[in-house]
Amino acid sequence: MQQYPTFVSHLECGLTGRRYPADTIHGLSEAGRPLLVRYDLPALAKAIDRGTPATRGEGGFWRYREMLPVRRSENVVSLGEVMTPLIDLPRTAARLGAARLTVKDEGRLPTGSFKARGLALAVSMAKELGIARMAMPTNGNAGAALAAYGSRAGMETFVFCPDDTPPVNVREIALQGARTFLVNGLINDCGRIVGEGTAAMGWFDTSTLKEPYRIEGKKTMGLELAEQLGWAVPDVILYPTGGGTGLIGMWKAFAELEAIGFIGPKRPRMVAVQAAGCAPIVKAFEDGVEHAPLWQDAHTVAAGIRVPVAVGDFLILRAVRESGGFAIAVEDDAIVAALGEMATEEGLMLCPEGAATFAAYRQALADGRIDRGEHAVLFNCATGLKYPLPPAGETLDISRPVDYAAMAR
Ligand SMILES: Cc1ncc(COP(=O)(O)O)c(C=O)c1O
Repeated sequence: MQQYPTFVSHLECGLTGRRYPADTIHGLSEAGRPLLVRYDLPALAKAIDRGTPATRGEGGFWRYREMLPVRRSENVVSLGEVMTPLIDLPRTAARLGAARLTVKDEGRLPTGSFKARGLALAVSMAKELGIARMAMPTNGNAGAALAAYGSRAGMETFVFCPDDTPPVNVREIALQGARTFLVNGLINDCGRIVGEGTAAMGWFDTSTLKEPYRIEGKKTMGLELAEQLGWAVPDVILYPTGGGTGLIGMWKAFAELEAIGFIGPKRPRMVAVQAAGCAPIVKAFEDGVEHAPLWQDAHTVAAGIRVPVAVGDFLILRAVRESGGFAIAVEDDAIVAALGEMATEEGLMLCPEGAATFAAYRQALADGRIDRGEHAVLFNCATGLKYPLPPAGETLDISRPVDYAAMAR
């Protein structure tokens, strides 16, 4: 098994900057905030160049091993990851008068969502650090990825979902080996159950940003995107934001890529997309504050972004503001319409969260916050096939002649 040099130097509190040692088990910092993994970037810059990832036989994001925290190759837990495609939408762009519009389709990853990135890293690091039992609250996709990667690694997993989580998600979580619980509350209530059960159950709390490595996995969306664009970044990224790990992770990726000389100082404007029925980050952005209070009565068809409170709120807001981006809320009606439009016009079935980014793009084009000349990338974070689809199909009775004339009308 091929080994690679690794460059993690330490971990750092995202709020206070306090340093913590690498290679030991960590949750949140003492300030109760996320820990970020830091690398010896000058040494990393000497070890790899822009051509290195493309020479790798490892699938998908494992091609960036030197930029990831797993030290030993035998601890890499993999389910056949792929580099997710960047799909241009020329027909839609032309209709909207836009120069270039692209979707990064994360639905092609194992378990059908981008959560595979974060959980592959979290489970691999758990294996490396000797953890055998993991638990998490989830809106569906993250739990499925934990269950799958956990089973792959021979670990025990416990997953807690709101009881109205899409049934496909609940069943795939259970089928992939997790003890699966339906909770009559929201994801933050599930999170409380995980946190409070840690002492009694001896599990590791794998909640978004409460452990340091999921963000390193999500970071690979930014690494991959830059590599796919010839080590460049788009003008705008629209990201469906719940806990925000992906947005924070990509922002971290671009900083690290610049530090090792793979990209220049240009950054995309980062746009946090939320549903109007659950938009704590949008409200905090508009109010000009650094933290986003709990959103009451959260509801939206886009289950993955129904996150009423995010522990990494300040990191999301910081990235959005530093990038010159913005946060935007879209109504459920617009999400459903955007989903249908993209499926019929481009043959691309987005998940509702991905459709929210398309709805937001249209809204921002209309209000001038995105310019038609800008290259925008939408993140479709899961396959649309994991969600309930509207009933369809016209019936044909084989005991009667088929009325082709009616069909053509
Ligand atoms: C399909 C989908 N999109 C977006 C999100 C939000 O991701 P993040 O926690 O990185 O904000 C989720 C999270 O569950 C999701 O499942």
